[in-house]
Amino acid sequence: MISLDGVHKGFAGRTLLRDVSLRIGEGDRVGVVGPNGAGKSTLLAILRGAAEPDQGAVSRVRGASVGHLSQEILSTPDATVLETALRPGGRLARILDELRDLPDAIERESDPARQAAMAARLAELHAQQDELGGHDREARAKRILAGLGFAPGAEARPLRSFSGGYVMRAELARLLTDLPDLLLLDEPTNHLDLESVLWLQGFLARCPSTLVVISHDRAFLASLATSIVEVDGGSARRWNLGWEAWVEQRALERRQLEARAREQEKRLRETERFVERFRSKATKARQVQSRLKALEKEERIEVARESASVRIRFPQPPRTSDPVLELEGASKSWGEHRVHEGLDFVLRRGDKTVLVGPNGAGKSTLLKMLGGATPLDAGERRVGHGVTVGYYAQHREEMLDVGATVLQNALARVRDQGETTVRALLGSFLFTGDDVHKPASVLSGGEKSRLALALILLRPPSVLLMDEPTIHLDVPSVDALIAALVDFEGALGFVSHDVHFIRSVARRVVRIAGGRVDEYAGDWDYYLWRRARESEAAAEGTSAREAATPAEDALAGERSARGLRAERRQAAEARVALARRLRPLREEASRLEDLVDALEREKAGLEAELADPATYAAATGGDLAARNRRHAEVERELEAALARWEDVQGRIAEAESGPEEPGDDA
Ligand SMILES: Nc1ncnc2c1ncn2[C@@H]1O[C@H](COP(=O)(O)OP(=O)(O)OP(=O)(O)O)[C@@H](O)[C@H]1O
Ligand SMILES: [Mg+2]
Repeated sequence: MISLDGVHKGFAGRTLLRDVSLRIGEGDRVGVVGPNGAGKSTLLAILRGAAEPDQGAVSRVRGASVGHLSQEILSTPDATVLETALRPGGRLARILDELRDLPDAIERESDPARQAAMAARLAELHAQQDELGGHDREARAKRILAGLGFAPGAEARPLRSFSGGYVMRAELARLLTDLPDLLLLDEPTNHLDLESVLWLQGFLARCPSTLVVISHDRAFLASLATSIVEVDGGSARRWNLGWEAWVEQRALERRQLEARAREQEKRLRETERFVERFRSKATKARQVQSRLKALEKEERIEVARESASVRIRFPQPPRTSDPVLELEGASKSWGEHRVHEGLDFVLRRGDKTVLVGPNGAGKSTLLKMLGGATPLDAGERRVGHGVTVGYYAQHREEMLDVGATVLQNALARVRDQGETTVRALLGSFLFTGDDVHKPASVLSGGEKSRLALALILLRPPSVLLMDEPTIHLDVPSVDALIAALVDFEGALGFVSHDVHFIRSVARRVVRIAGGRVDEYAGDWDYYLWRRARESEAAAEGTSAREAATPAEDALAGERSARGLRAERRQAAEARVALARRLRPLREEASRLEDLVDALEREKAGLEAELADPATYAAATGGDLAARNRRHAEVERELEAALARWEDVQGRIAEAESGPEEPGDDA
């Protein structure tokens, strides 16, 4: 579908891609991985023709449509959500036009060869229309929007009333509605919550497009990719392996290479010793010479160092009063949309609080209110004595002056500190040498996140409020951030959809839903356990929140062995209950799959007949019309069956992901 041949690409003296050759074939599902700033987004830009290589050739199959989701959305279209999702790629309209006239034209055509060609074209168009869901586009777009986390009815609202994460989702919905031949997705899970990630996984698994997906999300890649392209240190190497096999293979290759390098090193040392010893002995001179030659000829085996990773350390803040931040009776609306009303919230010294709750509950908004990043419509915000707040925005651009360079951004933040100190800090965030003179606008997604973190650290706050801190960051950077936050003695409030991150950092969970604020004074696993108990209690008609004593909450931090055992039992019971709930859903899904199979077979049969000139020669008019009618009918039935199948899949995913997961919201 696309191939790169000997492609070079660099910026400002730095080579990103060196002699890269790569072939993307039809139906490939490629996961693109590599550290921040390695050139993954740049590679995607070259694939779709938005950037030119400095050297080398790019060839694309003509006529193939390409859809692209960028890593960051820079402008919000002036349209409703649904209009955005339906914005046509142009391909579908052309197909429908052609389809309208073609059957008549085939009947009129007298030349059998031409008739055969036209019939083949008809079959092709049917297949394409099918892929695009052409006969039921709006319903399809709505289903996709729902899968991506838009509440029912939200599709009629203007996109501008949504947060950046939702603008991305609408854009993604447009691509999925259109289904181009080649889908290039740059970190599509960044702005999704867990449920939508699972939905997207399911959707992409069934999607006929060729896929190239950049991601740092291990589970997501494992479910999708059948080959991996690793971009690192100038190369882009392709492995025709799924994620897990790739991880193993790569580790194996590395171990082998290391072993070979060690063995070579040993031989070199021996030769050196030999040369040393016999240099003065004339009788050995010849041998010495040949050994020396062999030594010089041998190519050294280089084991690439794993890329450097960021070093993050939050200085311990001075003592502040407690609580550090408080909201009382706080209300906030975005336009017509009321997010919070009369909300009370307290953040205490030493808290590591994660905010969770369904989509649209207003988690990001609450962080902004706490951080003073947005004024309250009503109520009060109290800041403790000696408290300084660092707010890390979900959209890093909000924190950066994108027109200025990395260094200028940093210096503007601390006018009282010298350039040396500032550069040292930037260095630990991997901005070294000329990197600091890059304008912030050209930084990769992960580099922007790193710079935003560095800016916060230039004025170390006593309270950190972080909105989706892990997105865009590569795995080593996330690990460094976790370690730094675990050691941080100030207060932390955050929103995240990265379960690994939440589990590692959070020591208190606050759930916001339907205007209520529920406290869980324990870590993520404690929260899951309590939620499971609450839903059981709800099923039995009692309230677990009432049943739980405050002492239980207080003890949660240091759970006893008994508690742990009980939890394990609970978890096992929960698994059994889940399996019970899932069985009928799974059965229905499999019934629907059979039905879809049967319909698809019938449809293919009809299309083969309709595409066969012999049919037109032999059939009487009525027969043809009947087949055309049945074809349309089968399409409708198929659509309905698929809709039901998707719905059932959605319910299965919902049941599997538990009561509620943290996520991004308006
Ligand atoms: N127009 C430009 N001028 C100068 N440097 C650039 C330009 N565009 C990109 N770069 C640099 O090229 C490097 C690679 O950027 P790219 O966006 O391709 O990285 P990436 O692998 O996608 O990283 P991430 O995982 O952080 O998204 C970065 O160091 C970036 O700053
Ligand atoms: Mg990128």
